[in-house]
Amino acid sequence: MENKIEKSEIIEGLDSNVTDHEYDGIIELDNALPPWWLYMFYGTIIFAIIYVILFFGMGKFKQQDELKAEYAVAAEKIEAYQKEHGAAVDENTVVLVTDADKLADGKAIYEKNCVACHAVNGGGGVGPNFTDDYWIHGNSINEVFKVVKYGVPEKGMIPWEAQLNPEQMQNVASYILNEFTGKNVEGGKEPQGEKVN
Ligand code: HEC
Repeated sequence: MENKIEKSEIIEGLDSNVTDHEYDGIIELDNALPPWWLYMFYGTIIFAIIYVILFFGMGKFKQQDELKAEYAVAAEKIEAYQKEHGAAVDENTVVLVTDADKLADGKAIYEKNCVACHAVNGGGGVGPNFTDDYWIHGNSINEVFKVVKYGVPEKGMIPWEAQLNPEQMQNVASYILNEFTGKNVEGGKEPQGEKVN
């Protein structure tokens, strides 16, 4: 059965729009674009030209600066939050701080809360000696922070997390390591724990 449709049948009445592009009987017409589409297309071109002039030529829309300004606002909020609650350090993220003002804060905390058991010179008493090379729970900043935070209640070391904020615990732990390591003060308590150095 012959069911092949002739090209001329399809394009009857459309002759003027037919291009000579054809492949396997598929032909291409050249109709006018719908006006709504065409004007939108022109619109995008005009928009692009204006945008390029404003953005590159006149330096409008400074997204980078807007971003920086937003970052600055966020940084202020973080600082305000940290002032109130202490930086969000825990035993995994704590670092040994060496800034003079942070160590001074650590010293003040130590002298207020810790000397009763660890002595002003770190030589120990009820609590262990910080100036020798022996540590019960380890002498990394993370380990020291952890002991300060959670304490060792069954051995008489108080957990401090309720009284001190994380930043304060970081400061006092750093103070202990910075101030007492290797001092071996006279009259200090006998070594306890493992030798670390
Ligand atoms: C009431 C006495 C007491 C007070 C106050 C106290 N500690 Fe302790 N601390 C101890 C005792 C006891 C131990 C030993 C715990 C053990 O045997 O495991 C200890 C252990 C420690 C250790 C671990 C030492 C090691 O060898 O591993 C650190 C660090 C420490 N204290 C820091 C502090 C800090 C900082 C403060 C003040 C914020 C403080 N302590 C206040 C009694 C005290």
